Amino acid sequence: MAAQGLKVGVVDADIYGFSIPRMLGVSGSPTQVDDFIMPPTAHGVKVISVGMFVPGNQPVVWRGPMLHRALNQFLADVYWGDLDILLLDLPPGTGDVAISVAQLVPSADIIVVTTPQQAAAEVAERAGSIAAQTHQRVVGVIENMAYFEAPDGSRHAIFGEGGGQQVADSLGRILGTSIPLLGQIPLEQSVRECGDEGNPIAVTQPTSKAGAELVRIASELARRGTSLAGKKLGLSPVSH
Ligand SMILES: Nc1ncnc2c1ncn2[C@@H]1O[C@H](COP(=O)(O)OP(=O)(O)OP(=O)(O)O)[C@@H](O)[C@H]1O
Ligand SMILES: [Mg+2]
Repeated sequence: MAAQGLKVGVVDADIYGFSIPRMLGVSGSPTQVDDFIMPPTAHGVKVISVGMFVPGNQPVVWRGPMLHRALNQFLADVYWGDLDILLLDLPPGTGDVAISVAQLVPSADIIVVTTPQQAAAEVAERAGSIAAQTHQRVVGVIENMAYFEAPDGSRHAIFGEGGGQQVADSLGRILGTSIPLLGQIPLEQSVRECGDEGNPIAVTQPTSKAGAELVRIASELARRGTSLAGKKLGLSPVSH
């Protein structure tokens, strides 16, 4: 989306399992200006992650209230400037972070990512159906690792088939609206390699199958992009 000209910020809300700084290739650290935290930038995207505040590869061992406060700080104390899109990468499932995000950013839209596998689909379904209780909107479902294409062009359903559509259909039933399957990203070695190098495939290999699908999904999401400028995030203050 940033490559398509939108102003994008990313909050790595997977506090225990943070991986965004590596995958986006963020090398800088946040700096403090007055009362604000200035987020480092990578590929034109402003990024904040708890990984930038813990030395080395130390684990984050916090209970729910600490997670909530960290998320609140990422949203309230980070200087995001005028953004079109603020993406929050949530951990899998329906834990503390999902609840905090629902409380802190009630107007957020949800994108559900799953794999074709039954077991993953069921987890994703539960996570997505939180929206029924929080009144957040589910924008759609993305099926990752949808298939593997061999060099001879044959496709292999390594993780099975149909999980993405299944999640979209059942969330549609639960939420009483039509939920689209936004895209199907193939399993490709270069996705992993580019991520490990901090060069997202959508930027470095936008014509590969996975890269092109990600670019297509991004432009579809970007089309919805009304500017956040002047829009309240609807944050609720917490006492420190
Ligand atoms: N389509 C793909 N092809 C190849 N590798 C992939 C693909 N998608 C993700 N990966 C790799 O798999 C690893 C895990 O991916 P990622 O962090 O996106 O998963 P996740 O769904 O966020 O995991 P979690 O649910 O634990 O948060 C990363 O190293 C990533 O590069
Ligand atoms: Mg993740």
